Amino acid sequence: MNIHTYEKLWLVAAMVLIVGFIATVTYGAVGVGIEMVDDDGATLDPNSLDEDERFSDPRVEEVGEDEYEVYVVARQFLFQPDPIEVPANSEVTFYVTSADVIHGFEVAGTNVNTMVIPGEVAKLTVQFDEPDEYGIVCNEYCGSGHHGMEGKLIVTPEDEYDGGDA
Ligand code: CUA
Repeated sequence: MNIHTYEKLWLVAAMVLIVGFIATVTYGAVGVGIEMVDDDGATLDPNSLDEDERFSDPRVEEVGEDEYEVYVVARQFLFQPDPIEVPANSEVTFYVTSADVIHGFEVAGTNVNTMVIPGEVAKLTVQFDEPDEYGIVCNEYCGSGHHGMEGKLIVTPEDEYDGGDA
């Protein structure tokens, strides 16, 4: 069978494209370390957060110089602790889990915005440079009180800070 040169060229080009597409999809799925939420099982039991050392006492913890960790529990229909207080000029890592259903955790006006899934811990790190006040909202529908599920994050001036739980 005789195939024209151009025909051949296009055939080859089409093959290269197809193989290329498959390769990039495969790479995107397995090559860059993206894991599905449940790949290694739930990380904690939402029904016994009372016994979990990180979440039995939702709190702000100073873990280094200008470094804080905040353990947040979202539940119908509030966030704990509330308000959350951290000093300005600090790097804050939020660990957020849910005690019941899926919630959202959005610190309005920042790029802190995550889904909160029972059994999983969402982790977000953010830098707060200036004293300010932010509203925290739940942006996943979680039941009858969803619209009123909110909290507050207070970034206090460094020299006025006296621990996380106001
Ligand atoms: Cu919690 Cu909506």
